[in-house]
Amino acid sequence: MIPPRLVFKNDVLKILDQRLLPDKIKFISVKDAAGTAKATKDMALRGAPLIGCAAAFGFALELRRLRPASSAELERLARRTASLLKAARPTAVALFYAADRMLHKALVFAAANPGKFSAATIKKLLDLIDGEARLVTEEDEAACLAMGKFGASLLPKNCVIMTHCNAGALATMGIGTAVGVITAAHDQGKIKHAYSCETRPYLQGARLTIWELMREGVPSELLTDNMAAHIIKTCGVNAIVVGADRIASNGDTANKIGTYGLAVIARYHKVPFYVAAPTPTIDMKARDGGAIVIEERSTEEVTFVKGCRIAPIGVKVRHPAFDVTPASLITALITEKGIISPVTRENIKKNLAK
Ligand code: MRU
Repeated sequence: MIPPRLVFKNDVLKILDQRLLPDKIKFISVKDAAGTAKATKDMALRGAPLIGCAAAFGFALELRRLRPASSAELERLARRTASLLKAARPTAVALFYAADRMLHKALVFAAANPGKFSAATIKKLLDLIDGEARLVTEEDEAACLAMGKFGASLLPKNCVIMTHCNAGALATMGIGTAVGVITAAHDQGKIKHAYSCETRPYLQGARLTIWELMREGVPSELLTDNMAAHIIKTCGVNAIVVGADRIASNGDTANKIGTYGLAVIARYHKVPFYVAAPTPTIDMKARDGGAIVIEERSTEEVTFVKGCRIAPIGVKVRHPAFDVTPASLITALITEKGIISPVTRENIKKNLAK
């Protein structure tokens, strides 16, 4: 079993520090939204659905800490807190979804309870907000299970599958998105072998995904990213499944840097390329992939590996953390509501309406 990623109890959110995995299991305790946002920015916690769940808890923590005494105070605090949380990382839309959902809940409460709050009203507010945060998490867990089931149905027997980055339990509050598909298929006896790309520069595939696959007993091997084309050509890979940070309304998908390259290789070799992501990952406001903000992270994450410098001092570095795979390269999107194929705006709308 993978350790709990987030534990929300007694005005504290305990966050599993994923930067230390797999060697150390250590938790960071935060008591406010700023602490939650910092842990997200620093990537102590990461993965699109998980940062959304953490934002929901971070919002609840902030209200617990400051106990707004009136509707006006609540409105100000809720808007400030949502903005602070949303500033942590720009690409994963689940973060925006969760922060906005919490904000909406708080604003509706403020409108229904105008003026000064009694102690009983404050308690009612805090219970309501805690409940909403827990619901965000429960929905993520349930979505992962559903995606596992739908995704496994797409895979053949004796499947040799590849994944990229970490879209597993560690990226969610459930069994994961892409890795959830692999483990669900493994439970059905369908997986012959799984490959995990190490995922430069932050090594989520090497530190997290392969660790999860090993713990689940999935026959698996780790690759460096630049081995992927060779392995796809020579090792009978018959499916690739990845997660997503943001899917535009036409199906263009932002995911960890390197995903686009894998999709191009998959198309060349006629290997189906699947994206598993819960519906809060779909951003209907983004017309296409060009509207998705790509996070640029620090040079040190490229020039250092686990504290060891691997490039000359003073080197110039590019570090886009995500890339966009065009919808035309994606065989199917797998959401908790079903399978979207072919990937078109119309089919995405139909899936969301289910
Ligand atoms: O930078 P990260 O580790 O947060 O990026 C994670 C990914 O790109 C995942 O593939 C994506 O969030 C899907 S997680 C279920």
